Amino acid sequence: MNKLMIANWKMNKNSHEVAAFFSLFNEKYSGKRDAWIASQSLHFPLVEELKTSTIKAGLQNCSEHTEGAYTGEVSSRALKDMNGHFVLLGHSERRQYFQETSKNLNSKIRTAIQEGLVAVYCVGETLKERESGQTLTIIEDQIHQALNDQSKINSENLVIAYEPVWAIGTGKTATPLMAQEVHAHIRKVLKTKFPAFGEKIKILYGGSIKPDNVEELLAQKDIDGGLVGGASLKASDFLALCGDK
Ligand code: PGA
Repeated sequence: MNKLMIANWKMNKNSHEVAAFFSLFNEKYSGKRDAWIASQSLHFPLVEELKTSTIKAGLQNCSEHTEGAYTGEVSSRALKDMNGHFVLLGHSERRQYFQETSKNLNSKIRTAIQEGLVAVYCVGETLKERESGQTLTIIEDQIHQALNDQSKINSENLVIAYEPVWAIGTGKTATPLMAQEVHAHIRKVLKTKFPAFGEKIKILYGGSIKPDNVEELLAQKDIDGGLVGGASLKASDFLALCGDK
């Protein structure tokens, strides 16, 4: 299974910076690891235009509604129509600043999958939760609430991203063993929940991944790739994360 690296550009870059990224990235990217890019919505058509065909483009959030009177929202349907491949759902910044809960993410995942996108569902514990020994329970709960009663999920349309909240944008990375412990638990939960295909669902790690720590993280048995914020903004860094130095 190819490792998957997803760039989460968050609310960064202008159109010139997007173009500069691809002028270097396209030249050196070998396809050794899969590369997906989640840009701001407005830049999506530009990313689609500039990227090579092996790179997949998507967004950082979509509405749970398919269409209608929801001012300011972006639909999974419109994303799919524009050739989008995936959407990140439940990123901790969305949970923290926009009051998303695992329960309403259940609807967002359902809609995204129904419309033909891959849902990349993010889970993770806060520092307080880790320190009080609740990590595995919190994550299990986030998985159950968001993935319960979903009949259309399979190993191709769902990716899980484990991102400890205390490691996002802080420079503090979970050690490979800490990450592996949680990934193994997520794998176990997925196998129980989806016996036919749970084993094949990709589980990515996210939280201060950088060129100098990526290899030891990816060497862990249950880490199938990474979700990368800061280090995905520079083409040379993201190339290194994709195994292209
Ligand atoms: P970071 O962000 O790599 O900057 O820690 C990861 C993320 O938020 O997806």
